[in-house]
Amino acid sequence: MSDSIFRKDGTAQGVAKQRLIESLAKPEQRIINDPFAYRFVMGAIIVKLIGHKINVWLSRKFVPGFHEHLISRTRFIDDMVETSAANHVEQYVILGAGYDLRAHRLNLPSTLKIFEIDQIEVQSRKQTKLPKNIPNVQNITYVSIDFNHETLGDQLLNAGFDPYKSTVFTLEGVSQYITKKAVDATLTEINNLTKSSTTFYISYVDKFIIENPQACFGKGYPNPAKKAETILKLSAKVGEPWISFYSNEEIQSLLSKHGFTVMENKTLEDLNPIYFKPAGRLLPEDHIFNLEHSVVAKK
Ligand SMILES: C[S@@+](CC[C@H](N)C(=O)[O-])C[C@H]1O[C@@H](n2cnc3c(N)ncnc32)[C@H](O)[C@@H]1O
Repeated sequence: MSDSIFRKDGTAQGVAKQRLIESLAKPEQRIINDPFAYRFVMGAIIVKLIGHKINVWLSRKFVPGFHEHLISRTRFIDDMVETSAANHVEQYVILGAGYDLRAHRLNLPSTLKIFEIDQIEVQSRKQTKLPKNIPNVQNITYVSIDFNHETLGDQLLNAGFDPYKSTVFTLEGVSQYITKKAVDATLTEINNLTKSSTTFYISYVDKFIIENPQACFGKGYPNPAKKAETILKLSAKVGEPWISFYSNEEIQSLLSKHGFTVMENKTLEDLNPIYFKPAGRLLPEDHIFNLEHSVVAKK
């Protein structure tokens, strides 16, 4: 355990904070809405007082595109989960759920069974902060796991997971914090466990962040190597350092080894015109931040 002020939930809070900031935007301008995020963010009152515009401006001073990257990743998964649910997917497993409130804030059918997986400390804190009358509570089962030391299959089966039902798994903002061995083991478990159609979403940090940071940012981006270094330092400071990075080829071969075919691989560059342009918030090239990829694979 680190001496960080965060109790294993520093990065979960960090993402929830960006969702809170986005939710403060005018309804016609926001990309996602998370009305519960404030409950999980230290200093949420100050964030609310500062408001959407100034928070986004501050985040741009720090790392341009950082806020928009996290928000577009969330929206991309929101859309995928809602589409899957509309197409009658029966189970949704949120790996490393943290303070993800998708189960409560999206319009999901009551027939969709949801499993949230994370470390016990984070899950306990989450449950104490959830409002009593939040929607869809009855469809969620919490399963505690440390991906680096425990495997998924038995715990999911014990929690009522049905291998014969179609399932979506998402691993959002997690692969950089756990070993490659743990991701490989999780995919082995999923492949062995699932006997029906399965969708697997993974976000991963591009190896270029270490090898060639410039390649992860848009043309004209200010000080890319320094920004990459700042991001790496910050994650270590909140007690959860980034330890695993992948190339596109590595992810493709990892997924294919476990029976999956990659259907999509997106970065902020791809999502910027889809989400931010219609909201009048298209990012210029020198704010584009492609450090992390969103991959959807199916089997
Ligand atoms: C950046 S947060 C992302 C949370 C959530 N997916 C989201 O996007 O809001 C990373 C999450 O991974 C979880 N995590 C990190 N290491 C883990 C491990 N070894 N086992 C289980 N969960 C872990 C953390 O507890 C945290 O909730």
